[in-house]
Amino acid sequence: MQIITAFWLILALTGCSDKKEAKEYKIGFSQCVGSDLWRKTMLDEMKTELSLRPGTKLSYADANNSSSKQIDQVKEMIDEGIDLLIISPNEALPLTKIVEDTYNKGIPVIVIDRKTSSALYTAYVGAENYQVGKIAGEYLANSLKGSGNVIEVMGLPGSSPAIERDKGFTDALKKHPQIKINGQFYGDWLGENTEIELLKNKDKLKNVDAIFAHNDVMATSTRKVLQKLGFSHQIQVIGVDALPGNGGGLNLVSNQTLTASVLYPTGGKEAINIAMRILNKESFSKENILQTVVIDSSNVQLMKLQWARINSQQSDIERQQTLLADQFKVYNSQRLVLNFIVITLVLAVVFGGLAFHALLENRKINKSLELKNTEILNQRNQLIEMSEKAQAATEAKLNFFTNISHEFRTPLTLILSPLEDLLKNEKIKLAAGSNLKLIYKNVYRLLRLVNQLMDYRKIEHKKFKLHATANNLIDFIKEILDSFKHSAEKRNIDLRLIVKESPGVVWFDVNILDKVIFNLLSNALKFTSDNGRIYISIGKMEGTVHIDVEDNGVGMTDTELKHIFDQFYQSELNYSRGSGLGLSLSKELILLHKGNISVTSKKWQGTTFTIALPLGEDHLTNNEKATQEHQSAKLYDQVKIYTTEHDQAVSNEKDRTFEHIKDQSILIIEDNQDLLDYLTHKFETTFEIFTASTGTNGLAEAYEKIPDLIITDVVVPGISGKNLTHQLKSDIRTSHIPIILLTAQGSIEQQVNGIQSMADVYITKPFNFEYLQANVENLIKNRVILKEHYSSDISSSGVKRTANNLIDKKFLNDFAGIVEHNLSNEHFSVDDISKAIGISRVQLYRKIKALLNCSITDYILNRRLKKAKYYLSNEEYSISEITYMVGISSPTYFSTIFKNKYGMTPTEYKKTRLQ
Ligand code: FRU
Repeated sequence: MQIITAFWLILALTGCSDKKEAKEYKIGFSQCVGSDLWRKTMLDEMKTELSLRPGTKLSYADANNSSSKQIDQVKEMIDEGIDLLIISPNEALPLTKIVEDTYNKGIPVIVIDRKTSSALYTAYVGAENYQVGKIAGEYLANSLKGSGNVIEVMGLPGSSPAIERDKGFTDALKKHPQIKINGQFYGDWLGENTEIELLKNKDKLKNVDAIFAHNDVMATSTRKVLQKLGFSHQIQVIGVDALPGNGGGLNLVSNQTLTASVLYPTGGKEAINIAMRILNKESFSKENILQTVVIDSSNVQLMKLQWARINSQQSDIERQQTLLADQFKVYNSQRLVLNFIVITLVLAVVFGGLAFHALLENRKINKSLELKNTEILNQRNQLIEMSEKAQAATEAKLNFFTNISHEFRTPLTLILSPLEDLLKNEKIKLAAGSNLKLIYKNVYRLLRLVNQLMDYRKIEHKKFKLHATANNLIDFIKEILDSFKHSAEKRNIDLRLIVKESPGVVWFDVNILDKVIFNLLSNALKFTSDNGRIYISIGKMEGTVHIDVEDNGVGMTDTELKHIFDQFYQSELNYSRGSGLGLSLSKELILLHKGNISVTSKKWQGTTFTIALPLGEDHLTNNEKATQEHQSAKLYDQVKIYTTEHDQAVSNEKDRTFEHIKDQSILIIEDNQDLLDYLTHKFETTFEIFTASTGTNGLAEAYEKIPDLIITDVVVPGISGKNLTHQLKSDIRTSHIPIILLTAQGSIEQQVNGIQSMADVYITKPFNFEYLQANVENLIKNRVILKEHYSSDISSSGVKRTANNLIDKKFLNDFAGIVEHNLSNEHFSVDDISKAIGISRVQLYRKIKALLNCSITDYILNRRLKKAKYYLSNEEYSISEITYMVGISSPTYFSTIFKNKYGMTPTEYKKTRLQ
């Protein structure tokens, strides 16, 4: 677009470039009268001359013999805006002012033919009228041979040619006294007025020999009057102007209407020439007097010939001009075409170049695109191949897993039955009851997981067939509910069935739906705290039966909720923990029934699962229906599988009243009650045990109890084990506590990640208890070494440090530094240290107790005595000086406590050192 615009711009510019920058002018021409031949000739001359100067315009006004009209017309021209004024004033005096005004305004004025009474004009063009009159007078005197009677017909009174011609005429005749002027009349330059005036004074024409009329028009009328009156043709009539052409003076002389005519050139051509010189700021003459001559029978033919030649030359010129103009037009259009062609060519070359460049670029781009394409295709193929391989590998893994799981069922069953036998044996039950119960529960748990996994695989391979029968849903659910009653009651959970509307007979597969209901109830029980409620309600809505399982347990976050039915989904926060298969399987099983399962939940408020099953049997194919006999109730299996888990472990509420207080304490944070119980049971003989089942509670316990060690699961409800570790290790109050992370996340990255969270040890599940125990003991031992180090020597430099936490090291160093600094201050107190370190008195006390196993006052006193001992053996100070230097109030008190600690008085000690 821009290129095309530029193209036309260039074209337009080149089209004009050859034209000379001729300025455009406007010339005003004010004519006193325009109707007679002389004036028309003057205007034609001007136009012809102007045609040679394109661009200059002529604004013409004819005053028609009226001076006032002429004044108004000039004013109008000036208002319109003209560059120069040419004026032939009607009368001298009336027009003087407007000419002067125009001139004074800076507009050049050319006065032509007639004059004003002022010299304020730019130039004058015209013949000398005095001379015209004089020539006429002399001619008459000559032809009358010095005597006779003459009459003068004058132009408009007040017009300068009339005045001057009269003066020249009378002056010439003065030299010939025999020639008398019989009369003088004003013809006002017009034929009619002349006739009127002459006829009025016809008497005076009787003896006249010659008549001089100031122009040819009046002279012709004079001849007419003479003829009319029948006067002799001998009377000579002389006129002025001698115009060529029809009605012109030359013809009148030639046909003897007039005796002679004095040539009075119009000056039109000259006026335009001078005007252009003025406008173009070229030199010019102010007075431009045109030549005059008498034309009579002696030279009229010659003059006519000359005029004819001039005329033909003029028409030749005009023809040539037209021709030239035509040629110029042709030339212009050709030049335009040429320019167009040249520019088109240039553009074609430019565009061609650009197109070629673009082509090359395109080729390059195409090539690189092709390369990329092949690369992408290769990558895609590789990806497909890899994904196929991965899929096959996953499939193989899952198959293997399923097969193995299947294999588990037999050994698990084989463990179960002898275990049940053992549990029936009262003696064994008494000795190892709790352990056996734990094994029993977990065998069922394993069995459930194995079953779920196998069911899921069956669904994936579309091998799960529905065997639906018509059943009483309410009875069916009641029966399942009964199996959980016992566990619920124990924990004071309000578990009940609410029938909003009986659905009547419902078609479902009892062996499938029971898995779903068992799973939902088992989950509800797991995540509802003691004294909570679980309502299972049945209702009808638009051809479906709705089963709601509603609890007021811990609930779920929106993120958990989004993925709750995803296969193997285990939430970070882990309220939905388990295999990650139960709910996903439930969903598939409900879908098999052409039903739907949905969930709503609010964190810390509760969860409701809703199962919608279609009523009637039309939605089921014949294959999906089964005869009642086909149904073998396996409810018993599900009962054990889903409820054993909720059986309370053997009571762990021991009577601890008589337990002796242990030196060290351990905080165990674990949400699996069985594992928590197990660990508590294992460690409680040696350590005081605090427990918590959520991270949040664990954190609070840690701050409150400041235990000697913490064992925490990584994935616990609330704050995670790693976050908890990080928080405790970054807090000066708890940073010294060793932390062991227990987790099922066993990858190396996860272990590194665990250690990075500043945990002291990271142990993966399943773990060996002895390994855990060894770690616990080791960590506690290290603490003791640390305590000994800080609570012993005076100078800590050179001693290997065992504090494995930078915060603790810094804390102990700060603490020791503050004490050292203030040893000489007798009033130095625990408050001063807690203020300096920025923790509370109690926290400081606990921290020092944990790290150094002594009270702060004991520590300070110990440091004072150690320093005193150092002074006693190394410096030349007196006992009282040393007492003062280590901030002890009196030498007697110093002596007493020194003896208590070292078994001798300071003086005795000094003596032994000196010896
Ligand atoms: C034309 C005319 C001429 C004469 C001139 C004088 O209008 O009358 O015939 O020579 O004017 O101004």
